[in-house]
Amino acid sequence: MRYQTLRVCHRRNPNLRWIKSATVRRSIHSASRNHGPRSMQTTETTTEPPREKTPYELMGGAAKVREIVDRFYDIMDTDPAAAPIRAMHARDLGPMRERLTAFLSGWLGGPPLYFQLPDRTCVVSAHRPFPIGEAERDQWMMCIRRAMEESGVDKDLRELLDKAFLRMCEAFRNR
Ligand code: HEM
Repeated sequence: MRYQTLRVCHRRNPNLRWIKSATVRRSIHSASRNHGPRSMQTTETTTEPPREKTPYELMGGAAKVREIVDRFYDIMDTDPAAAPIRAMHARDLGPMRERLTAFLSGWLGGPPLYFQLPDRTCVVSAHRPFPIGEAERDQWMMCIRRAMEESGVDKDLRELLDKAFLRMCEAFRNR
């Protein structure tokens, strides 16, 4: 399988400081699947330098972020393995769907919607009231991994984001 290298721009956006590696590899197979043979031909013959793309752009923008978040909370709400962290959340997950979508939008390099919310908070502090250890981290990671996979996020991008989500979870641990 051949690979196309896509450069992920993190210098122009401080929200992307979590990306240590500046590249995400995407297979030409997947490019051709998504855009048809014509774009595969363009990819193979282009002499332009690699385009800079944010993870937000790579995954498909606002609609895809919302799809992942909806899937994430649907899984948390229904999978018994996530019941302990589900119980930490309010009965109505509607507001959290909005807030996590807004947060991830900026965190992934898209519009910084969370920071425009009048009642935004420090996300680390928001987690302090909840006992978060290894088990809770693993439940959260199980939900986001499934959500990304079931939403069709590219495998290489998932691997990059997996490491970044894991670092965030570790930062929120208090036991
Ligand atoms: C380590 C596992 C995690 C657990 C157990 C956890 C749990 C929670 C809980 C219980 C809330 C409050 C929910 C409510 O008020 O109904 C919350 C809020 C939130 N979480 Fe997490 N979380 C985790 C990891 C993460 C990660 C990795 C992110 C981001 C990548 C994140 C982003 C947020 C955001 C944006 C809010 C809303 C903060 C606010 O505006 O009040 N969480 N989380």
